[in-house]
Amino acid sequence: MRLALAALVLLLAGPTPSQFAPAQAPAQLRRGLASAEAAIRAAACDAERRFGEGDPDANASRCEGVRGPPGVEVGRTSARLRNPRNAPPGWAKAYLAQTDGKKASEVEPAVFDLGDRVGLLRPIEIRKRCLSCHADRAEVAESTRAWLEAAYPRDQSFGYALGDLRGFWWAEAAK
Ligand code: HEC
Repeated sequence: MRLALAALVLLLAGPTPSQFAPAQAPAQLRRGLASAEAAIRAAACDAERRFGEGDPDANASRCEGVRGPPGVEVGRTSARLRNPRNAPPGWAKAYLAQTDGKKASEVEPAVFDLGDRVGLLRPIEIRKRCLSCHADRAEVAESTRAWLEAAYPRDQSFGYALGDLRGFWWAEAAK
């Protein structure tokens, strides 16, 4: 029964794209990988500027003049979504499921060969300042909880602790 289920899941998920650590990515993926990296960096700097919530290591010097390359799709996602619009692209789902519940320090970035495109996942860690909106529901200030619950009725993103993997930046670029 278990095996049959596993086979069905594989069948429904389609073929799994080959996956590499960034440093081990084959030569034909490197150009797309560089674009994906640049797109994530720009998006993280942008989120940091606008909400103070992108890349806690982003600072003026690292983000100065950083602009994402055109034609690269980029976003944030998680195995435990707050906003359903942040659902992962299909190729990212297996890695999200595999890494959910880990500490960010245990999770490596991953590169995927998607045929004519390259996918990249870069882990996002829960820092102290994230806890005011992503800690256990009971620990989140009541006023914050009220607006979050109103805006995201199916929120799964409470319950994180310092150092937890919260999710990933993802990007998809042409090869
Ligand atoms: C003021 C409240 C608040 C704080 C602080 C906060 N978040 Fe969020 N977070 C949100 C809201 C609201 C969303 C959904 C809206 C969106 O898509 O950005 C969200 C969404 C996310 C997502 C996208 C996946 C999903 O579940 O929809 C990630 C990843 C994320 N947060 C990580 C972090 C990290 C890492 C920090 C700390 C550096 C942080 N957040 C701090 C409110 C917050």
